[in-house]
Amino acid sequence: MQRCQVLRQMKRVVLQNAGSELVSLYVIGSFLTNEMIRSSDIDLVGIMKSSFDFRKEARINKALNETVSSGHRIDLGIMSYDEFFGGTRKGSLTKHIELPIFLNFLNRAQLVCGKRINFDKLPIKPASPEQELKYHIGTFDEYKTVFRKSDNVGSDFSFRDFIKTVFYIADLELQLGRSLPPRRSYSEIVKAFRNERAHIVNYSMKLRRKKSITHKEKQSWLDSAERYVARMKTGFATELDSIPMKREIVADPSELAAAWSRQYERLAQTFADVLGKKNRKIAEIGCGSGQLTIPLAKHAAKAQFALVDRYGGSAYSQNYEALRSNLKKAKLTGRARVGVSDYLKWIATQGDGVYDAVISSEFLPEIDSADTSRFIQECYRIMRSGGVTAHSFLSPVPRNSGQKLLIMADSNPIWTKKPPKEWFSPEPALVTSELRKSGFHGIRKTAKRSYLIMKAEAARCWLKAGEVKASFYEKHKTQLNKDGL
Ligand SMILES: C[S@@+](CC[C@H](N)C(=O)[O-])C[C@H]1O[C@@H](n2cnc3c(N)ncnc32)[C@H](O)[C@@H]1O
Repeated sequence: MQRCQVLRQMKRVVLQNAGSELVSLYVIGSFLTNEMIRSSDIDLVGIMKSSFDFRKEARINKALNETVSSGHRIDLGIMSYDEFFGGTRKGSLTKHIELPIFLNFLNRAQLVCGKRINFDKLPIKPASPEQELKYHIGTFDEYKTVFRKSDNVGSDFSFRDFIKTVFYIADLELQLGRSLPPRRSYSEIVKAFRNERAHIVNYSMKLRRKKSITHKEKQSWLDSAERYVARMKTGFATELDSIPMKREIVADPSELAAAWSRQYERLAQTFADVLGKKNRKIAEIGCGSGQLTIPLAKHAAKAQFALVDRYGGSAYSQNYEALRSNLKKAKLTGRARVGVSDYLKWIATQGDGVYDAVISSEFLPEIDSADTSRFIQECYRIMRSGGVTAHSFLSPVPRNSGQKLLIMADSNPIWTKKPPKEWFSPEPALVTSELRKSGFHGIRKTAKRSYLIMKAEAARCWLKAGEVKASFYEKHKTQLNKDGL
């Protein structure tokens, strides 16, 4: 069938289902270009009024694929027009791509019917090339391990789609490295690198055009692509560093430790801000392997630390050795005294008003409300007048499905081998109230977003290390692979 006929049919189906609630229908990607290959999808973008019933998205997709005989899978993604003006996200389109990034695709889209939107005049601005580069590198890192093992992620992200990520990165290499304008097609990108035979875009194009891709070819592409992306990260490090933190998605278990250590670097900055100059003599309860201690010591360069932990149970017992080694590596052994003890026993041996600061990170989740009350009273007693106490813990109130899953895994006795005494984490209001009762004043509660998402194999390893039963991962595998924890 002629392409214009396909367009007409698609328009008819969408209008039949969306009627006057359709603002605009666009086509993006390779359809209508000479880049279309047998395996390409036809990608449609439906921009709807916010009153549209967004649950109809799947039904329209079904109707499109059943009625239009294009020979290609038709993929309609929809979003609300209001989203361009700060409205709530509706529809699937911007669920997996941030709107500023997507605007760069929309700028090159072709209108099928409805209103022609002037994307340059919207309050939301398209992502800069630096932001785009960071975004596509993030996507590559997120999925590189998953595609080593499978050819598809969910029903709508295939290895062939994944290859495109490298074209986008190469296009940005041209924009940022050679000050060229964005290329309009994959062939134009390949052409721009015609003097570099070994450039990844050549192999990517070859694979994209192949009818079927073997396991060996896929692995070899992934090897080259990983080397290429690592080079881009180094080459454009300054540009990438200038982009503020967004979501950090980790799917590869080998990247978990570094991702968590970045989390603690930021947490240490927050502790340092709260402590200010009251940081000469710090007691830290439940210090573990020094996850917070080590980065905090960089901010509090003159501090002496009294570190306490009982290192009980299989999940924590190895952390004593880890702490020793971390302190040594960070040259902190002279500034830290380690007490292996139950916290209450240890505190009982401390005199009144000794410490400038008493702190903890993820320790309150380990005890219950009666213990919290006693603990905070003791913090008050051992702290000097004018000192400060600070305690961080994960929010007990989930804000999305990943957080909900994590809380369930870590507190429901069905899944965790070590269910907590009373809570996943205390309610911040309870901690505030205990602090007030114990005599503290000037109490502040700060909510910090972590931006870290652990997916797929990384989520599995993390759960395993936290003594969550393997059956939990098996049961929630689809969600853990897709949305993560
Ligand atoms: C979740 S870990 C937190 C480790 C580290 N502070 C962090 O932020 O990652 C909780 C720590 O509290 C310690 N802990 C639990 N109950 C304790 C108790 N009664 N006395 C001393 N330490 C305890 C555990 O051994 C463990 O190292």
